[in-house]
Amino acid sequence: MSDSIIGAGPKRIDGQRKVTGEAPYAADHHPDNMAYGYGIFSTIARGTVTGLELDAARQSPGVIDIFHHGHFPELHRSPASMPQGNKVEETRLPFEDNHVHYEGQFVALVVADTFENARAAARKVVVSYQADDNAIANLDQGVKAHGTKKGGDNHERGDAAGSFDGAAHSIDVTYTTPVETHNPMEMHASVASWEGDRLTIYESSQGVVQQRGALSKIFGIPQEHIRVESPFIGSGFGSKLWMWPHAVAASAAARETGRPVQLVVPREQMFTTTGHRPETRQRMRLATDDSGRLVSLRHESINTTSFTDQYVETCGSVTKSLYSCPNLLVSHETTQVNRGTPTSMRAPGAAPGLFALESAIDEMAHEAGVDPLEFRLNNYADRDESQDLDFSSNHIREATQKAAEQFGWHDRNPEIGSMREGHEIIGYGMAACNWEAIKRECEARVSLRADGTAHVTCATQDIGTGTYTIVAQTVSDITGLPLEKITVRLGDTSYPAGPVSGGSWTTATTLPAVAAATREAIEELKGYATSKKGDFADVDSDSLTFENGQLTHDGQGVDYVDVLKGQRLASADGHAHTQGADDRYSYRSFGAHFVEVRWDPGISNLRVSRVVSAIDVGRVINSMTARNQVEGAIVMGLGMAHFEATDYDARNARPVNNNYAEYVVPVHADQPPEVDVILLDYPDLEFNEFGARGIGEIGITGMAAAVANAVYHATGKRIRDLPIFKEKLMENVPEVQSA
Ligand code: MOS
Repeated sequence: MSDSIIGAGPKRIDGQRKVTGEAPYAADHHPDNMAYGYGIFSTIARGTVTGLELDAARQSPGVIDIFHHGHFPELHRSPASMPQGNKVEETRLPFEDNHVHYEGQFVALVVADTFENARAAARKVVVSYQADDNAIANLDQGVKAHGTKKGGDNHERGDAAGSFDGAAHSIDVTYTTPVETHNPMEMHASVASWEGDRLTIYESSQGVVQQRGALSKIFGIPQEHIRVESPFIGSGFGSKLWMWPHAVAASAAARETGRPVQLVVPREQMFTTTGHRPETRQRMRLATDDSGRLVSLRHESINTTSFTDQYVETCGSVTKSLYSCPNLLVSHETTQVNRGTPTSMRAPGAAPGLFALESAIDEMAHEAGVDPLEFRLNNYADRDESQDLDFSSNHIREATQKAAEQFGWHDRNPEIGSMREGHEIIGYGMAACNWEAIKRECEARVSLRADGTAHVTCATQDIGTGTYTIVAQTVSDITGLPLEKITVRLGDTSYPAGPVSGGSWTTATTLPAVAAATREAIEELKGYATSKKGDFADVDSDSLTFENGQLTHDGQGVDYVDVLKGQRLASADGHAHTQGADDRYSYRSFGAHFVEVRWDPGISNLRVSRVVSAIDVGRVINSMTARNQVEGAIVMGLGMAHFEATDYDARNARPVNNNYAEYVVPVHADQPPEVDVILLDYPDLEFNEFGARGIGEIGITGMAAAVANAVYHATGKRIRDLPIFKEKLMENVPEVQSA
């Protein structure tokens, strides 16, 4: 048995197929006789479709059919339940009625013989509307027009209001974050085909099992008649967790036309009809005693949701347990706006929530006259006070101190704008990061084959994070087979049910199932070996060991391939079904970011020059892919800090920068010259046998606050509204002495 493969850093086993273009993504599938769909999307944000002029489009070359309300099969809504396995975020069906709730909503769908013909015809469709002039474009308008509605995940302990009044130091500040839109490289796409009453759909999906369940409810057909495949996806960041209307439209159109239909969501409509991170407004009230200990903490958050569904951005989820505070209130409310339904985006709740919390902690430390690093070390919670549970494993103090040391925090001159180099003012900022560790139910199957290979199947997905590779590492660890001999198949509902690739839970959920299935397969193999015809016919199977591909007893080893071949067997198989996490502990991951910014006040140029992050995520399974996840999340966090915002025209609620050119995400030139990731690697064996807690999301949490805190240190400007555009720093520029 090799134990070095766990924690090693082998390259992605699917990497070569991806970079050579061999890996099939959803829209790479072209079943015979496939037709192409192209959507017609509403150009108003609120109102009614009053008519469709279709004659010109119908006569356009290659058109097969045009679907809309009035010409679309009657379908059913999904109950949208995650436990039932049929969750969708937008419950309204495409073309369900004539109402328009947001700009970019499907109002019709052209199906034609080619993509170009479908698009050309779609542009000939003339839609008439009765627009309601009171489209709600943003959070403030929503609150004014419709008020707010309470959301879930609230928490209260002690007397937060009473202890705030009369405390030695206090702050009362409000932060806002804009809509951010997922922009994975690969656009959403469906390729749907029917054979009789059986549907096969290739989808760029983070959750094939949930999509199958939702399609089953929507079409009223058994799950067994539906196959959803998503073997490769060009990431999703949460936008592909749950099925969106285009997949329903494509499936229905395929059934109606009797041909496979491919439907790709154009980039513009990825800003409207496939989710986004909602706008938030967060009021933070914090108070400390004389010594800088928190005595009161209130985090009250409002986020925008759609008129069709309530989505709660749980901004206070981390606030409940990161700091020790006897008097605490966390509340969530939503307000409706004319936008599509929001959804999870990398570290939902925590990413905007920790911008507010970790900026406010910095402000509070400043107000109390305590160094922000010391303030955190003094106030971090030792146990989860919101659940009254111990943490299974928590090394946040060590993470914070290690990163601080590597970063050189102690060289920081706390005076604002005091650290200078040439034209530039240097700012140091820090923030904690935090994410829940989640483990779900999972099934997996492993076959040890007579050809000397192992074959693993599980209906989870690899969204680019390295799931294929860590599954192979797991089987290799137990069997001793090299990675090249292990085939991993994911992203197909015909495999044993696996989890949605989200919530950073895939590793902790999938590996225990794969390990259990591998051990089951070995048990089956031992049974064959100790059967009457076996190599160890008289031996008790419990006394056999399996190491490096051999069954061994009393120093005598037989290759497992020979055990199978000797009995003309193709394989020994194991199937496992593992359960989700228990509730003995509070399971969370922890860490801290340290950021250096450089600001040139003469031209108001701002850049992040250095990042050091130390993360405590339990055991690391693959040191390379784990590091990649944190590095990617840091970069995404910089995008959140500096660039990302979907802007809506206040007059008509239309997103105006709905494209790759004007919705700005970090590019290579924006990368900080130095990004240092420290992975603490303390196995959390209370959580699962691997001690791994998952790593996809934690790295983005706290990043925007760390940048904002560094910007404050450099400029004296406290930016409470993301993103930190450079122009926000242009007023009241402190005087700079030339060197
Ligand atoms: Mo993540 S937002 O759970 O894909």
